[in-house]
Amino acid sequence: MTKFQYRTFTPESIMCEQDLSAIIELESRALKYPWSQESWSSFVAKPSSSVDFLLMTLEQDVLCGFILFSLDSFDGHHELLKIVVIPERHGDGIAQQLFKNSISEIKTRYKVSDIYLDVALSNQRAISFYKTLGFKEVRKMKKFYSDGADAIGMLLCA
Ligand SMILES: CC(C)(COP(=O)(O)OP(=O)(O)OC[C@H]1O[C@@H](n2cnc3c(N)ncnc32)[C@H](O)[C@@H]1OP(=O)(O)O)[C@@H](O)C(=O)NCCC(=O)NCCS
Repeated sequence: MTKFQYRTFTPESIMCEQDLSAIIELESRALKYPWSQESWSSFVAKPSSSVDFLLMTLEQDVLCGFILFSLDSFDGHHELLKIVVIPERHGDGIAQQLFKNSISEIKTRYKVSDIYLDVALSNQRAISFYKTLGFKEVRKMKKFYSDGADAIGMLLCA
């Protein structure tokens, strides 16, 4: 059975260039609306008022997936910003493990109750995945993305 390694990044920890490049490469392959290199660089560099949390999973030092949260202990708005798994390993339970592991870690570190996310309405695979985790649709957003695509907002009440 495969042994996965996990690596966590918080504002106090430093992400190495190699990990960052692997994340950017995976995201541009897997997501319709990936962040730019500049957005990632400012995420890594910023001293933020919110607490960001990123968990990577690796198999023999190769990135298989990652999950990124924005956690705001001030106003209690906690958001799952993205979750991505390499296409070759879809359906192997990697995303579910990433979610479970990060939730248990952020619950012990921060006061996390509800978690919100936005997802493209066309991304039915991701919507099904989020539903299996217990997320419920809470709003519809017309023309949410720059190309005019619609999105929905989903909420998980802990
Ligand atoms: C969405 C995504 C993260 C799911 O990752 P994954 O590792 O394949 O998901 P898992 O194997 O952990 O699946 C967990 C459960 O979610 C549901 N699920 C996952 N993929 C599904 C699909 N294609 N259709 C229906 N349900 C699905 C299933 O219930 C599954 O449980 P099961 O395998 O026991 O039936 C992955 O498809 C992905 O990386 N997509 C591209 C990036 C993306 O769109 N991310 C979301 C927006 S940021």
